[in-house]
Amino acid sequence: MKSVKAVQGEKLAIEGGKKAVEKLGPLPTKIGKDELLEIIDMWEFNPQTQAKIKELIQKEPDVKGPHLFRYYNPKPSKVAAAEAAMSELIGTKYCLAVNSCTSALVASYKALGIGCGDQVIVPAYTFFATSATVVSSNAIPVIVDIDDSLCIDPSAIEKAITKRTKAIAPVHMRGAPAQMDAIMEIANKKGIPVVEDVAQAASGSFGDKRLGSIGTMGCFSFDYYKIIVSGEGGFITTDDEWLYIRAQSWHDCAACWRPDRFAKERRDGELFCGENYRMSELEGAVSIAQIRKADKMIAGYRRAKNRIKDAIEKFPGLSFRRLADKKGDTGICLVMFLPDAAKTKRALEYIKAEGIPAGGIFDSKVRDWHIYSYWEHILDLKTVSHDGMPWSGVVKQELPKYSRDMCPRTLDILSRSILVDIDYNYSDEDCDAITNGINKVLRVILK
Ligand SMILES: Cc1ncc(COP(=O)(O)O)c(C=O)c1O
Repeated sequence: MKSVKAVQGEKLAIEGGKKAVEKLGPLPTKIGKDELLEIIDMWEFNPQTQAKIKELIQKEPDVKGPHLFRYYNPKPSKVAAAEAAMSELIGTKYCLAVNSCTSALVASYKALGIGCGDQVIVPAYTFFATSATVVSSNAIPVIVDIDDSLCIDPSAIEKAITKRTKAIAPVHMRGAPAQMDAIMEIANKKGIPVVEDVAQAASGSFGDKRLGSIGTMGCFSFDYYKIIVSGEGGFITTDDEWLYIRAQSWHDCAACWRPDRFAKERRDGELFCGENYRMSELEGAVSIAQIRKADKMIAGYRRAKNRIKDAIEKFPGLSFRRLADKKGDTGICLVMFLPDAAKTKRALEYIKAEGIPAGGIFDSKVRDWHIYSYWEHILDLKTVSHDGMPWSGVVKQELPKYSRDMCPRTLDILSRSILVDIDYNYSDEDCDAITNGINKVLRVILK
């Protein structure tokens, strides 16, 4: 051990002495070849190719692995690049990547300042997340009928508006736009923000605008079942800088990572306690590749859908879902209506037996989170906490009158719907085989 005197004799680095630590390491990065090999396992290359790729990687020297966190990233962030690509695709000034559409919806409701006692109007047919996030934002969902577009009925919105209405959340269901001209007219007249749920219709449009750029905020899902996907993921689009800033604050705990991280509040309402909805760089990277392909995919969906639909014969009692904007439909599915639930059920059974990827939408005996009558969490005023929120935040008379049959038109329309899934890669032969199968069945059912 050196004597205290000797140690005292060494000049401190701060005074010009030799630095004690010139270099540490080499230190491998946290994420390296092992992690890449796990990722490669997920692709179904043939076993020889898989082995070759793995061997090549194993032979490589250790190099720096990716920094999968978007912030403090030594390389340009993939998440930031995905946001830029999404802004460009949708046509909004701002875009925030998050980890799901559920997160996007909560962050949007929070950005708008929605809370205790406020009401948000939602359609009776949507994936539960649109309404559940109203409740988890401590507000009250007001559930209204859809129409034959399978999207929210603008006249039902108008009737449901109260002094407590703080947002309208139209959902562009099953790839097709809601009636955005009528919805925006009502919203603008009353000064109510519109949160578009674009989870199922990314890159669709209404008029000359992409969905997600018409309302106040747009919420997208990139979960695996959507049009453009990253496994899990979501985006918020908006032209409103302040709402973007507030959503950004909510999405990373408490504005921990805003551009000037440690700055004091610049304006009342910028700093508040949030959650963590950040997207990882892996999802960011997959998202960029997917966003680039969006228009090509949509062109494929539309081509296949139109070919199938145009060749379906005319049958008495057969109609198709009304498209609020035919050109803006993404074409991911074809929805037909039959005259009654019994015929629909039988036709569906026959159509499936023909090998056609089709499904019903509502069967009173099958539970489904897309249909309001199964949202017992809301209908039965369920709560996660002892305080009974959000329901306890409102006097009983001001709560909507929830019941399983409160939107009979929605249940009727959905019970008569058959949905045929479209793939953007279908060849003309695939499309014709599907149409032939549908025609064959409808000739029997609707004769
Ligand atoms: C209409 C709609 N909104 C929201 C969501 C929630 O999306 P995510 O799974 O990304 O949270 C979905 C997902 O199914 C959806 O279909």
